[in-house]
Amino acid sequence: MGDYQLEEAATKIQEVKEKLGEDLLILAHHYQRDEIVAVADFRGDSLELSRRAADSDARWIVFCGVHFMAETAAILARPGQQVLIPREDAGCYLAHSVDRVQLLDAWERLSQVMHVERELLPVAYVNTTAEVKAFVGEKGGACCTSSSANQVLTWAFERSPRVFFLPDQYLGRNTASALGIPEEEIALWDPHHPPQDLSRFKRARLVLWRGACNVHVRFLPQDVARVRREQPGVLVVVHPECRPEVVALADEVGSTSYIIRTVKNSPPGTVWAVGTEQRLVARLAAENLDKLVFSLGDPPPYCSYMSLTRLSDLARVLAGLPSGEERGRVEVPAEVRAGARAALDRMWEAIRASG
Ligand code: 13P
Ligand code: SF4
Repeated sequence: MGDYQLEEAATKIQEVKEKLGEDLLILAHHYQRDEIVAVADFRGDSLELSRRAADSDARWIVFCGVHFMAETAAILARPGQQVLIPREDAGCYLAHSVDRVQLLDAWERLSQVMHVERELLPVAYVNTTAEVKAFVGEKGGACCTSSSANQVLTWAFERSPRVFFLPDQYLGRNTASALGIPEEEIALWDPHHPPQDLSRFKRARLVLWRGACNVHVRFLPQDVARVRREQPGVLVVVHPECRPEVVALADEVGSTSYIIRTVKNSPPGTVWAVGTEQRLVARLAAENLDKLVFSLGDPPPYCSYMSLTRLSDLARVLAGLPSGEERGRVEVPAEVRAGARAALDRMWEAIRASG
C-alpha cells in the first residue's frame, strides 16, 4: 500500500471515528501493523483486549487481531453490541490445531482409563474456536490466556485431580513447570496419532494437547546461546508459547503486555533479545531508543495471520457503519455461546480467586 493510499484510508477512518464517537471502539492486538495500532482506541494483550471488550458500552467493537480474539469479544458482548473483524480470514495456527470432533474423540478414548466426567477438567487457551470453548465450558472447565494460565491451572487443580490443557503444549508445559508439576505426571495427547497404549494417561495428572504456535516454535536454544555470545550482558525475554528449552534459558517469560512492561521499565542502556512476534519487537525497539532491543530469532518470525489486516480493510469495515451496514460481522450461535461464556467467566473467577 503506497503512502497516499495509507493516508487516504487513515483519513476515512478518522472521519468515521469522529462521526460515531462513543458508539465505536477499535481494539488492536500488539502484533498488528503499526498503522493499525496508531488508529486503534486501545491496544493490548489478549486478556486486556477481552476485558476491554467486555467493559465497553460501544455499539460496534471492531477487532483488529485474529478471529478467535474477535469471537471471544462476541461471546462477551452485550445485547445490542456487534463485533466486527476487518479480515475474517485472520486465523491462528494454535486455534486450528483442535476442533470439537477431535476433542470429543480424545475425551472418549481417555474415558477408557479414567472417569473423565469426574476426574478430568479441561482448560482451553483462548486461542481456540468458540465451539472448543463451549465443550470446555460444558464440562465445567475454564479458558485462560498467556497471562492467566498460571492462575487458571491452579484453580483447575484445586477442583480436579487431573487437567486436560489445550491446545498449546508449550504454554501447558511452561505453566506446569512454574507450578512444580513433575515431567512424569504429564502426558502428551497427539490428536493425529491417538495412542493405543494409554497407560501413561492413566497415571497422568496433566494431559497436554499436541499443538504449538508456528511463530513461537521458531525460537531455539541455540538462538539464546548466539545472542549471549554476540551481546554479553544481554537479557532474554520470551513469550510462554516458546519451547520449554528456550524458556528455561531466558531471563524473563510473560505475555505480550508483560514483555512490553518489562522492557519499558528496565534501566537505560539495557540490551534485550525478545522472543515473540516481530511487529511487536520492532515497535518496542522504536519506543525504547535508550535501550537496544532486537529479536531473539534470526530471521525474526512474523505471524502471517496478524499481518493480514491492513488499513484499507479497517477503512472498508468502518465505511459501512454510519449507514448501519455491518461488514465483517462475527456471530456466535446461541447454543455455542452459553458454554463458551461459562468457560470465559470461570477464567475471571480464577483470576479473582488468586487475589
Ligand atoms: P497474548 O496473550 O500475550 O496477547 O498472546 C496472544 C497470542 O496469540 C500470542 O501468540
Ligand atoms: Fe496464533 Fe501464533 Fe499468531 Fe499468536 S502468533 S495469533 S498463537 S499463530
